[in-house]
Amino acid sequence: MAMDFLLTTYSGFREYPNPNWSIVMQAPEKNLAFDLVRVTESAALSAARWLGKGDKEAGDGAAVDAMRLSFNSLGLDGVVIIGEGEKDKAPMLYNGEQVGDGDGPAVDVAVDPVEGTRLLANGRPNAISVIGVCRKGCMYNPGPSFYMQKIVVGREARNVIDIDAPVKDNLGHIAKALGKDINDLVVFVLDKPRHAKLIGDIRSAGARIQLHTDGDVAGALMVADPRSDVDVMMGTGGTPEGVIAACAIKGVGGQMLCRLDPQSYVEKENIERAGVDMREILSVESIIRADDAFFAATGISGGDFLRGVQYTGSGAITHSLAIRAKTGTFRYIESHHNWDRLMQFSAVQYD
Ligand code: FBP
Repeated sequence: MAMDFLLTTYSGFREYPNPNWSIVMQAPEKNLAFDLVRVTESAALSAARWLGKGDKEAGDGAAVDAMRLSFNSLGLDGVVIIGEGEKDKAPMLYNGEQVGDGDGPAVDVAVDPVEGTRLLANGRPNAISVIGVCRKGCMYNPGPSFYMQKIVVGREARNVIDIDAPVKDNLGHIAKALGKDINDLVVFVLDKPRHAKLIGDIRSAGARIQLHTDGDVAGALMVADPRSDVDVMMGTGGTPEGVIAACAIKGVGGQMLCRLDPQSYVEKENIERAGVDMREILSVESIIRADDAFFAATGISGGDFLRGVQYTGSGAITHSLAIRAKTGTFRYIESHHNWDRLMQFSAVQYD
C-alpha cells in the first residue's frame, strides 16, 4: 500500500483504506479511558479515607490533589473546560487549568474528583470520582451556569423523549420503547424541594421512583447500565455533572436532553451577562461534539453500579468503569493496589 494513503489520526495512529476502497479501516487507537481510570483510581483511593468523617472539603481536597498529580503524568495536552467546586466554594481543578504533560492529544476535560461530596462525608452510597474527555474544542461550555434540567434514557428510548412534553407523556413513550408498562418504570430523581411537582407528576403517572439525596452522574450511569433497574433520570442537577454524564452516555448510546435551569436570580443574571443561551435544548451530541470521547469513573463509597474502595490492610481494591465513545466499548475494571510496592515511590500517601 502506498504511503500516501496513510493518515495520522488524532491519537497518533494511522488510518488506511481497505483493499476494496469502500471502508476506511483503522489500526487500534490508544484508548485514553485506561489512562483516565488510573487518575480516578488515585482520587478515589485518597478520598475514601474520608468516608463518613463528616468533612466534605477534606475528602474533596484529597481527591483534587491526587487527581491533579496523576493527571499531570499523562501524555496529553488537556484544558479543564468544566471543573467542579465553584458552586459550593469547594477545592477544585479550576476552569482553564492545563492538565497532562502537554505532549499528546489536545483535549477538553471535565472533572469531578468527588461527585457526591455529601454522600462521601456521610458514608452514603454512590460517591464516585469521574472524568470526561473529548477532542479539543468539542465540549459544551456552560459558562457561569450551575444548574440544568435533565432527562436521561438508555439506548432503546433515545428517540422518544421531549424535554418540553408533560412527564406522563415522556414516561408513556419511554415505557413503550422499553416494552414495559408505565408502572414497571423506575425513575431516578434527586430528593430536592424543587422536585416536589416532578415527583407528584411521576407518581400520578404510575411510575416508581428512586429518590437520592445527591449524585446524578451516578443516576445517569444507572440508566445506561443494563444491569441496573433504573430506567429514566429526571430533574434538575448540576451543569458540570451534566457535561460529565454526557461523555458516558455518548459512549453507551443513550440520550440526555438538557436545558440550563438557573436556581437563583444571580445565576440567571450571570448566564445572561455571559451571553449563554438559556433556552437552547442540549443533547448528548451538542454537549460532546466529537466521537473521540472518553469517560472514566471509580467508586469511592460502595454503590449500586460501582463498588467503593475496599482497604485490605496491605493495599486496596478499586472498581472502575472505562468508556470509549467511538467504539461504544465499556469496561468494568477491578484493580488490586499493593501498598508495599506502591508506597516505596508514590507521591500520594494512600496507606
Ligand atoms: P457534588 O459533586 O458537588 O457533591 O454534587 C453533588 C450533587 O448532588 C450532584 O450530583 C448534583 O448534580 C448536584 O449536587 C445538585 O446540586 P444541589 O445539591 O445544589 O441541588
